Amino acid sequence: MKIKIAVVGLGIGKAHIYYYQQIPDVEIIGVVDTNPDVLKDAAEKYNVRPFSSVEELLKSDIPDGVSICTPPSSHLKLTQIFAKKHVHILCEKPMAPRVSDCEKMIEVCEKNEVFLMIGFKKRFSPTYLFLKNKFENEFGLPKWVFAKFALGRVERQWFWDENDGGGPIVENTVHMIDLLHFLLGEVRTVYAEGGNLFMPEFAPQIDSAIFTMRFKNGAMAGIGAGYASEWIFAKEEVTFTSEKAVCEVKGPFDKPQNLQYIYRNNPSQVFEEKFDDADGFSGEIKHFVDCIKNNSIPVVGGNDGLYALKVCRAIKSSARRKKPVSI
Ligand SMILES: NC(=O)c1ccc[n+]([C@@H]2O[C@H](COP(=O)([O-])OP(=O)(O)OC[C@H]3O[C@@H](n4cnc5c(N)ncnc54)[C@H](O)[C@@H]3O)[C@@H](O)[C@H]2O)c1
Repeated sequence: MKIKIAVVGLGIGKAHIYYYQQIPDVEIIGVVDTNPDVLKDAAEKYNVRPFSSVEELLKSDIPDGVSICTPPSSHLKLTQIFAKKHVHILCEKPMAPRVSDCEKMIEVCEKNEVFLMIGFKKRFSPTYLFLKNKFENEFGLPKWVFAKFALGRVERQWFWDENDGGGPIVENTVHMIDLLHFLLGEVRTVYAEGGNLFMPEFAPQIDSAIFTMRFKNGAMAGIGAGYASEWIFAKEEVTFTSEKAVCEVKGPFDKPQNLQYIYRNNPSQVFEEKFDDADGFSGEIKHFVDCIKNNSIPVVGGNDGLYALKVCRAIKSSARRKKPVSI
């Protein structure tokens, strides 16, 4: 029996379709978009059945799992619709604009006994998985992290809207926050300098920030994020320093493919690794399908989505209040 999947929202949803189609025992029963041109193009390109609404899709068949790839303000409603039909959910990040939306999403999924996975692809990046294993088994957890995670220009209205994407410090920085949650644990306090520096048309939304984080285990991180680069030039660079090792991840934005590391007791020898599929997307989609097949709980769920949103909101709140904020 094939695993039946639907994809709703066909921007980044097209990448979901592509990765589902690489898995032999998945059947995409339909794709949905409210924009007819987008829907037609994607249906033709990927040879999948188009639906103009989730109601039409659900009249035709009930999938085992759905990718929700629409803007964040629609995630709660769509999650409620699919959970009530007992469909497992992979919801794109950020989970939702408000903490209360995230709580309702967790509740409806628990009540209907479906799982809710959040699309934090970096947890499936082979680069960061390699490092997680090294940190836990050899290097010790990082105590000092320095990350450059500045993205290029995005002009979609929903991205900037406080009640939807929340601007780059929520919509995009949430990936880095979840990664650090995954690798280092929970955050105690954040302090941010940030503001509307480059996109006055979306003021007062914060478009860029530089912030520090202190973790509950004592580790500290400094991060530069937001619209402070341009796509063709944007990089993802993270240095992790632990007691035994210094590790540097480098690559184009969202493609952290190159890793160099040294042991601090032998710093002249540099080790190098290069990883394929470094963005983690293919691993994320495969994990969702495996969880459906094996009836197992995803490694990243609603509570992680809620936590990352709270940290991103604390960063913005710190920048506005010019004070450290505790999580
Ligand atoms: N994981 C990643 O790397 C990644 C990358 C990009 C975007 N995202 C996330 O994915 C989500 C979508 O972002 P995007 O860049 O694809 O946006 P987009 O604006 O490019 O595409 C969204 C699509 O959803 C459609 N849509 C909106 N509401 C709908 C509804 N109720 N039912 C059906 N279709 C609907 C729109 O017509 C549009 O085609 C956001 O949450 C975003 O943060 C994640």
